[in-house]
Amino acid sequence: MKKPQLWRFRMKDMQIFRVPRQRPHLRKPTWLIVLICMVSMFLIFAYFYPPQNSTACYVFSHKGCKSFTSWLPPLTRELTDEEVASRLVIREVLNAPPSIIENPKIAYMFLTPGALPFEELWDKFFQGHEGKFSVYVHASKDRALHFSRYFINREVHSEQVDWGKISMVDAERRLLTYALKDPDNQHFVLLSDSCIPLRGFDYVYNYLMYSNVSFVDSFVDPGPHGNGRYSEHMLPEVEKKDFRKGAQWFTMKRKHAIIIMADYLYYDKFRDYCRPGMEQNRNCYSDEHYLPTFFHMFDPTGISNWSVTHVDWSEGKWHPKSYTAEDVTSELMQNITSVWDSMHVTSDEKKEVQIKPCLWNGDPRPCYLFARKFLPGTLDNLMLLFDNYTSSLDWH
Ligand SMILES: *[C@@H]1O[C@H](CO)[C@@H](O)[C@H](O)[C@H]1NC(C)=O
Ligand SMILES: *[C@@H]1O[C@H](CO)[C@@H](O)[C@H](O)[C@H]1NC(C)=O
Ligand SMILES: *[C@@H]1O[C@H](CO)[C@@H](O)[C@H](O)[C@H]1NC(C)=O
Ligand SMILES: *[C@@H]1O[C@H](CO)[C@@H](O)[C@H](O)[C@H]1NC(C)=O
Repeated sequence: MKKPQLWRFRMKDMQIFRVPRQRPHLRKPTWLIVLICMVSMFLIFAYFYPPQNSTACYVFSHKGCKSFTSWLPPLTRELTDEEVASRLVIREVLNAPPSIIENPKIAYMFLTPGALPFEELWDKFFQGHEGKFSVYVHASKDRALHFSRYFINREVHSEQVDWGKISMVDAERRLLTYALKDPDNQHFVLLSDSCIPLRGFDYVYNYLMYSNVSFVDSFVDPGPHGNGRYSEHMLPEVEKKDFRKGAQWFTMKRKHAIIIMADYLYYDKFRDYCRPGMEQNRNCYSDEHYLPTFFHMFDPTGISNWSVTHVDWSEGKWHPKSYTAEDVTSELMQNITSVWDSMHVTSDEKKEVQIKPCLWNGDPRPCYLFARKFLPGTLDNLMLLFDNYTSSLDWH
């Protein structure tokens, strides 16, 4: 990236300026150098503080103020060694040819405090698909007893997780790390203890494995719960224009999991400057900003920008709706599985609603494969309805 021409121009002038001081017989052009310096400084000043009234604009350019500043290159900076190294690794991983795997598997990674209330439902989901998936459990509080053979002995090393803190991102990275150890794992799904499957195994497998993007949520929220959480301490690596928001529940391709595991530069910025109680009246939650921002910066077209895990924020509270046993009817499941548009709402006064069709390799498809938040008491109803709601739409 180039520095503005004017800076270079001025630096050069300074060097010329030093020469005549050593050789007195060249004194005469000094007035010219001083003049050039003054003009340079004036232009730099005008560049940073463009004239506001139209007469001044006319003096600078007959086309007006906008064109006066636009002939200069954009204000950019030189990258640090760490940024250069980081970008190099990211580019190499993203551009590497895909490896041919005979039996590609999907890694289902469960982030839970302890017991998994829907183990029985997931057991039904996984049954008969052995060899096409692997399960990983990060139990941050209690090691619970497992009932399903798919969950027994699948715990990874875990640490305490605090809501909204960097320990949440650490747990996600830990799950990715352990799941990456199996080279057959080609797609990685992050799930919580309150998540349920909305589709049959094959539908989910095909949707994820043959998609050309990772399903990472990412959008611009100019409001207090979006850009309002940005801190200038993240400069120079993370600029406000790149700051994004999104739900933490992702699914991602192996190459994306690797660049996340390899990243410390950007991770450190979020760990240090995006946390609850950062500054007075300002809370930032890394799990909602780190990955949406990171992928926006390094592979914006490689992500879907919506999450395949449904959640209901329509009540407008601090937490999304938690479904109870009475809520779980075939009508509700029908409603959730037939959503074809993703929706984001900004947190400013405008409450702008951004609606986009969910495109799967360019074609419209239903948005969701999983849903939350379901209370443990919904298990019996979900078990009864599972065959009904998962058979309603077949993969073609
Ligand atoms: C996601 O958003 C970015 C802009 O941030 C855009 O470039 C990209 O094409 C979007 N992804 C898809 C799959 O539309
Ligand atoms: C399902 O969607 C319809 C149409 O939007 C709505 O009227 C109904 O209340 C929804 N039912 C449930 C259980 O969410
Ligand atoms: C994914 O496929 C769609 C449709 O063919 C295409 O427009 C898009 O560029 C592809 N994205 C990537 C990252 O390959
Ligand atoms: C699911 O249940 C609803 C309501 O009982 C019924 O109308 C529908 O036909 C069922 N669908 C399947 C695929 O069994």
